[in-house]
Amino acid sequence: MKKLIFATSNAGKMKEVRSILADTGYEILSMKEAGIQVEVEEDGATFEENALIKARAVHEISHTLVLADDSGLEIDHLGKEPGVHSSRYMGEDTSYEIKNARILERLDGVPKEQRTARFVCAIAAVFEDGRCVTVREAMEGYIGYEPQGENGFGYDPIFYLDLDGPSNAQISMEEKNRVSHRGKALRAMKKGLV
Ligand code: IMP
Repeated sequence: MKKLIFATSNAGKMKEVRSILADTGYEILSMKEAGIQVEVEEDGATFEENALIKARAVHEISHTLVLADDSGLEIDHLGKEPGVHSSRYMGEDTSYEIKNARILERLDGVPKEQRTARFVCAIAAVFEDGRCVTVREAMEGYIGYEPQGENGFGYDPIFYLDLDGPSNAQISMEEKNRVSHRGKALRAMKKGLV
């Protein structure tokens, strides 16, 4: 069976990747399972560039099909911040409780129609022969007025698909994966693999 390496060390992501790509005919391996360890600086200007930087770095070592993703939150009222800097916003070690509180503060008094935001996910594939493909998908929604919910991670408590509904941290993982930026991007990439 041909191997596909997904360039992440995040166990949650690997679970989602395996469930969506299960029937592609590839043996799906994490970097750890492939015995590969690389540190890359994600200094690209776009989600696609960052995903490609990661996928290329692993492909240089493995010469197999490699997939990598990069994701983040774009808030329209903040000029699409934090964007590619989502995990580094206010510092890598700052808790999401603090990051989310700061975002809500920056949106204080901003009306609903200007609270639009989206989670973006780009996935890059580098094929055995070095050919590259990228896809990008998004989950459109709003930044709410307060954080709610305990599920999910990162900016989920302040992100709402609809301001009258639950936050991303109040829905189950299965529900979120069905409509999430990452789920959609994985399914789009899958079409290019089979
Ligand atoms: P990465 O693609 O794993 O590097 O994710 C970048 C950052 O984007 C994460 O650390 C989170 O801050 C944010 N992010 C990406 N996807 C989500 C999501 O589904 N929920 C909440 N935050 C997310």
